[in-house]
Amino acid sequence: VKDKELIRGSWESLGKNKVPHGVIMFSRLFELDPALLNLFHYSPNCDSKQDCLSSPEFLDHVTKVMLVIDAAVSHLDDLHSLEDFLLNLGRKHQAVGVSTQSFTEVGESLLYMLQCSLGQAYTAPLRQAWLNMYSIVVAVMSRGWAK
Ligand code: HEM
Repeated sequence: VKDKELIRGSWESLGKNKVPHGVIMFSRLFELDPALLNLFHYSPNCDSKQDCLSSPEFLDHVTKVMLVIDAAVSHLDDLHSLEDFLLNLGRKHQAVGVSTQSFTEVGESLLYMLQCSLGQAYTAPLRQAWLNMYSIVVAVMSRGWAK
């Protein structure tokens, strides 16, 4: 119950500005693993990481990611209602060549973005609350890799 309040409270302001926060998250992700850029079929259209992150296709994906997080936050009381969607989302990411190991870096990037954006409000319990929700989302998406 406490977890949900922490997540909802922190998402209230972040969720109103999805794209800039998503850009912070993905800049961090591409710093942690630059090779992930190559999985986007439209990445050859840009010369640098910075250039990529400001291209419409990348901003589109960043927006999609933030909308999935938004959906998870809105469905904290019934995350299982997102199971089919998340399983299918996992399958699509397997198909584009993402490996489940990358979810570790994605999680770190999510926490990095929260830390940057929340400042003092980024506390150990808040970090744990987000990690708990993220691990549920990742667990369901990862089933999309099962044969
Ligand atoms: C689609 C890559 C993480 C949500 C895609 C596509 C690629 C991709 C290449 C297809 C092209 C496109 O739609 O732009 C990656 C990589 C990731 C990552 C490399 C990190 C390792 C995530 C995460 C989420 C997410 C964490 C949300 C939790 C989506 C959605 C789509 C998508 C909603 C559209 C799927 C559809 O077409 O139905 N992703 N993605 N992605 N991604 Fe990701």
